[in-house]
Amino acid sequence: MKPAEKPHVLVAYPLRPRFMEELEARYTLHRLDQATDKDAVLAKAGRVCTAIVVNGHVAVDAAMLDRLPALKLAACSSAGFDLMDLDAMTQRGITLTNTSLALVDDVADTAILLMLASRRRLVEADAYVRSGDWGRQGMFPLTTSAAGKRAGIVGLGNIGLAIARRCEAMGLAIGYSGRNQKPGVGYDYFPDPVALAEWADILLVATPGGAGTTGLISATVLEALGPTGTLVNVARGSVVDEAALIAALQDGRIAGAGLDVFLNEPHPDPALTALPNVTLYPHHASGTEETRDRMAQLTLDNLEAFFAGRPLLTPVN
Ligand code: DGY
Repeated sequence: MKPAEKPHVLVAYPLRPRFMEELEARYTLHRLDQATDKDAVLAKAGRVCTAIVVNGHVAVDAAMLDRLPALKLAACSSAGFDLMDLDAMTQRGITLTNTSLALVDDVADTAILLMLASRRRLVEADAYVRSGDWGRQGMFPLTTSAAGKRAGIVGLGNIGLAIARRCEAMGLAIGYSGRNQKPGVGYDYFPDPVALAEWADILLVATPGGAGTTGLISATVLEALGPTGTLVNVARGSVVDEAALIAALQDGRIAGAGLDVFLNEPHPDPALTALPNVTLYPHHASGTEETRDRMAQLTLDNLEAFFAGRPLLTPVN
């Protein structure tokens, strides 16, 4: 008897090497990520691949889906999927899965890291100690506390809630904004991000990216946050009006910002990277060994469930 053929999977973004080995063992892989002739890979994969492995850095639009008529599953190994055309997937009967549940703690930790680093000027303090000038040109300037202040969280999903719990434990008051008030959540709700920013000392952005949130943190929101306010963004660069943010940081209309995400990655606006009152992180909130393993494992588990005809673990649509 002929051995059963392994299912065909298109890889548009690789998982960590040991998970790639597992993929290789279970499936016939079509490597779009490594292809010099992407057209040729798509032409072949289009006929046979029912699943694709992607992540949030890959754009999967209607034109690409048109070339993959057999596709039924897009297994996305990231939380964000704002570069994917979800409506086009749904129309074609393709299910998208993501891995947001695997990265909640590390992304929330990163928001706290950026909040404290900005308030306490960690990067400047580090440079100050290393410079050998400690004490020679006066003491390092005083910084501002986080404890006792108000944290306004934009988007109270799983990551937003994890940020809220950490802030609460650190003695901050919590408010949030989002499309809907969350039932059973005791934090103050502000339907409008401008009202939240007026109330808050620190605004932490944890909302999904995409068309619905583009420019949500506008010049008006930043004005409302005010000259002692700190902005933290672990969501997507597109959620913040970056030109307005740069102007507000330059003019001292907000005190500082901690950013994991940027409009133009991996080449953030030089006007932003020149500023001393911004703490920068290279879109690496989920970048730990443990979380990246969990994300890859969840991606494999979704593929396995799909090919076994079992319910998917983390469907989005
Ligand atoms: C994601 O998975 O979308 C996050 O941006 C990673 O930090």
